[in-house]
Amino acid sequence: MQDSVNPAIIEKVQALRTALHRHNYRYYVLDDPEISDSEYDRMMKELIEIEKTWPALSSPDSPSLRVGAPPVSKFETATHSIPMLSLDNGFEESDIFDFDNRVKRHLKVDGEIEYTAEPKLDGLAVELVYEMGKLAVASTRGDGIVGEVITSNIKTIPSVPLILQQEGKHKIPSHLEVRGEVFIGLAGFERLNKQRIDQGLPAFANPRNAAAGSLRQLDSSITAKRPLEIFFYGTGSVTDMVFHSHWEALQILRGFGLRINPIIRPKITIREAAGYYKELSEMRHELSYDIDGMVIKVDSISLQQELGTTSRSPRWAIAYKFEALQETTRVMDIEVQVGRTGALTPVAFLDPVNVGGVTVSRATLHNEDEIAKKDVRIGDKVFIRRAGDVIPEVVKVIEFKRTGKEKIFSMPQNCPVCGSDIIRLEGEAVKRCINTNCPAQVKERIKHFASKGAFDIDGLGDKLVEQMVDKGMLSSYADIFRLDKKNLEGLERMGGKSAQNLIDAIENSKKISFSRFLYALGIRYVGEHVARVIADKFNSLESLSGASCSDLEAIDGIGPVAAKSVESFLNELENIKTIDRILDSGVQIFYDTDNKEKRLYGKLFVLTGTLDGMARNLAKEMIEAAGGKVSGSVSRNTDYLVAGKSPGSKLARARSLGVEIIDEEFLKKLLG
Ligand code: IVH
Repeated sequence: MQDSVNPAIIEKVQALRTALHRHNYRYYVLDDPEISDSEYDRMMKELIEIEKTWPALSSPDSPSLRVGAPPVSKFETATHSIPMLSLDNGFEESDIFDFDNRVKRHLKVDGEIEYTAEPKLDGLAVELVYEMGKLAVASTRGDGIVGEVITSNIKTIPSVPLILQQEGKHKIPSHLEVRGEVFIGLAGFERLNKQRIDQGLPAFANPRNAAAGSLRQLDSSITAKRPLEIFFYGTGSVTDMVFHSHWEALQILRGFGLRINPIIRPKITIREAAGYYKELSEMRHELSYDIDGMVIKVDSISLQQELGTTSRSPRWAIAYKFEALQETTRVMDIEVQVGRTGALTPVAFLDPVNVGGVTVSRATLHNEDEIAKKDVRIGDKVFIRRAGDVIPEVVKVIEFKRTGKEKIFSMPQNCPVCGSDIIRLEGEAVKRCINTNCPAQVKERIKHFASKGAFDIDGLGDKLVEQMVDKGMLSSYADIFRLDKKNLEGLERMGGKSAQNLIDAIENSKKISFSRFLYALGIRYVGEHVARVIADKFNSLESLSGASCSDLEAIDGIGPVAAKSVESFLNELENIKTIDRILDSGVQIFYDTDNKEKRLYGKLFVLTGTLDGMARNLAKEMIEAAGGKVSGSVSRNTDYLVAGKSPGSKLARARSLGVEIIDEEFLKKLLG
């Protein structure tokens, strides 16, 4: 009924599609959205509604297709016009220097070869064919020669442009094959696995498996619900266009709206590539997606052609792999640990394995519901993962390895440390020991009190605290300030000198800022950031003690749960006594009112990329002069990420943590 559709509607549909394509590009490729997510969602909803009402208006390249197409019974196959080869692997540094020597020998050159080095994404290789700028066919790598056609599935990935952009001086080729890696980010992976476990479905062992399972769905509406992403890293056959270098090709693809990894390092020597590998192996833990190594490619296309390929892999590229972040091992035992707030956490003791360069012998099992859902038993062979700085985790049991001798674990009925009753509060997944004097809780509280972000007492480490609690020398915070040299000298591995050092450190810690003091108290839901926000609003402990729950809730950055927790903590008689005893021991809280009047007081910044108008150092100094702080890495506590030109991985991390991202102009405004 195309002819009965009002021309205004047709125009509206076209306008919506153009706008949605553009906003997609701004968001996924440029990392620079112009509208909010909800505005985007509203536009998408409007488009879907119009297309539903007037089916004649539907089109194969409508952005609405990201919700999926009707299921198919099996995938068609397609032959790649140029085979999708694999890569040679290197496992140690000498392998990449050997590679460089092979390249030079083959090309008969003495000088340096120019390379481009890229993160090796741990996902699935795909090929997308654009005809006259429109996405026509997408296929998997398959055996490298023939792949499976997964066009409907690929169309559901938000960062895949359905229509290429004509931006810049390069005309879009009439036939363009691009290649890239489809993957699932870490946050998306966790969300997906949580959902699956809640629904009683088996978890995916890692993001790669999750991506593979999602991409090979016959029903693309399922794929549409999976958090798939893509980065493009090369081309297949291309008409009417010659690339001189790999880096140039990537830049041109980016101009067409194809998403290119922003941390690729172009035009470097083999030595620099070796350095980049080291950088990447650290950065890897901060990225919001898994990488399993680095790929080094000869940058010049003519040299690539001269080098050619073997039947398996190109001679102009090599992958230099990292150690895996995931391993399988056996659960030797499950023990319950009691934390600072009495929470009982089951911990799996593992047959030690090396995971990404670190020996892992324990992994958290979170709580009893998690154990039940994942059905982890003592003796099970399991997958464990270590991602970022987080505690290693048991992801999944390898069920077919079961022998029948595995033992089902059940939580103890009483606190394993002090024998007291345990309770499970409504709405909480954890059980808690009710005895606040439980030695395990006392130890953990004192460790926290002395830790870096709190009183920061150098030399009062975990082992020492445990020893002193066991000996009855410490049972409350204030006891720390009554320790004397004589008592200390009686302890294991404690000489006169270290005893004196500890006494000095304790003395020095007595002058403490209000925010650290609050954090040290170990109030539930009051981490370093919340403590800083509260200290910023109150200029004395008295005024905070007089604050009501609603006063606290009114503070930007304090939620109802934290507010309630602070209010009830400060009104509890036992806690008031505890605080008095600390202050009676000579602890002095300083209220940093001077600094507080500064406009950026308490704000934590991270800088990334090159800033136009000012040097990084200058920016740092100016932020600090305005009372703010600058840190090298993005965390949940970061208030602002200042993103300059070609920002690094910090941008992705900031985005995944929901940290506010600002540009240099905005920073200047903040600085006044
Ligand atoms: S280039 C002929 N670049 O690694 C060279 N591959 O082992 C083709 N991969 O199948 C690959 N990140 O799935 C290239 N930046 C990157 C990559 C990358 C991941 C995967 C790709 C390929 C496999 C080869």
